[in-house]
Amino acid sequence: MATVDIRAVRKTYPGLPFEVIKGIDCAIADGELLVMLGPSGCGKSTLLRMVAGLERISQGEIAIAGRVVNDLEPKDRNIAMVFQNYALYPHMSVYANMSYGLRIQRLPKAEIDRRVRDAAAILELEPFLQRKPRALSGGQRQRVAMGRAIVREPDVFLFDEPLSNLDAKLRTQMRVEIKRLQQRLATTSLYVTHDQVEAMTLADRLMVMRDGVAEQIGTPMEVYTHPATVFVGGFIGAPAMNFLQGEVAEGGAVRLPGGVALPAGTAAPGQAGRPVTVGIRPEHLAPAGEGVPGLPVTLTVDLAEALGADTLVHGRLAGTDTSLIARLAGHVQARSGEAMALTVTDGAWHLFDVESGRRLADTVGRLAKPAA
Ligand SMILES: Nc1ncnc2c1ncn2[C@@H]1O[C@H](COP(=O)(O)OP(=O)(O)OP(=O)(O)O)[C@@H](O)[C@H]1O
Ligand SMILES: [Mg+2]
Repeated sequence: MATVDIRAVRKTYPGLPFEVIKGIDCAIADGELLVMLGPSGCGKSTLLRMVAGLERISQGEIAIAGRVVNDLEPKDRNIAMVFQNYALYPHMSVYANMSYGLRIQRLPKAEIDRRVRDAAAILELEPFLQRKPRALSGGQRQRVAMGRAIVREPDVFLFDEPLSNLDAKLRTQMRVEIKRLQQRLATTSLYVTHDQVEAMTLADRLMVMRDGVAEQIGTPMEVYTHPATVFVGGFIGAPAMNFLQGEVAEGGAVRLPGGVALPAGTAAPGQAGRPVTVGIRPEHLAPAGEGVPGLPVTLTVDLAEALGADTLVHGRLAGTDTSLIARLAGHVQARSGEAMALTVTDGAWHLFDVESGRRLADTVGRLAKPAA
């Protein structure tokens, strides 16, 4: 078991005019599962591969179990990596696939056998040990790939989108299995995905990345309830957070388009005239008259999507061009052109600086900050 320390790490590739990783710091605790999440090309795989030793670190350092590994070969880092493309040897049995790395290391036969059987038991692969990969389902193959990593008894697991080749149902199953496995083995893990649900459910902590920068590192709930930037607010949560242009008025009230205003004390005092971006999550809009205390707004409905459990109502803040999406209960009906009276849950708004996109102040009301 081990900690992983990423200190002021930067990466440039020869011939690329920009830095791919622009100075990332993160201390991952022993046994922790850190998920790296972000859009395609933001540098997730690059960061993971630097931890693995498959890419050089241009600046900064990475330590595993307190030992700086910048100049260590991958094989000397005691890590195990599971990729999206799990590349099993087709001509070898499951047993041979799982034991391959250990045989290369020339471990004693009895030790290899113990490790393979332990891993097979954990992964429920015992009935398949003599089969070839082609006679396995996608999920079973993925478990063999996991087994190959487990038998190495590494200090750290590195996962790069290990589930993205699986269909949606299998992905959900494997997600739960990975979580269970990681809790049971308590092996420090770094896990790359661009699937939000995977990220939210697996992570002890999330690193939300954008263009080589860690925009926010925190527990999934911290990131969800207190996004540090407009980008994080918009990236986490589906449908995405609504953003409105606001302006601070006297007493820290915030004027929104269409004559609506967030109450006094929402913004810090003495900022009258300052433009702000206001974020409101779709689930923090509810039909008026349901007794939820909050701010009344009127939505001019464009269209409604009935998803069963929920209905997503798309529209505009009445009398404006400001688009809003409300996530309402499945039984709610809405017709195009209709004016719908809604309530924004009290305090469920987020204020961001217009220029930097950074979170301005903690909102009052029901969005209490979770205990750290
Ligand atoms: N070997 C390389 N040489 C030059 N540029 C590279 C190399 N590998 C990656 N890059 C560039 O570095 C940036 C980050 O790539 P990376 O693979 O880390 O992204 P990612 O976040 O894993 O994306 P995805 O979600 O698509 O897998 C991209 O702009 C990519 O084009
Ligand atoms: Mg990648």
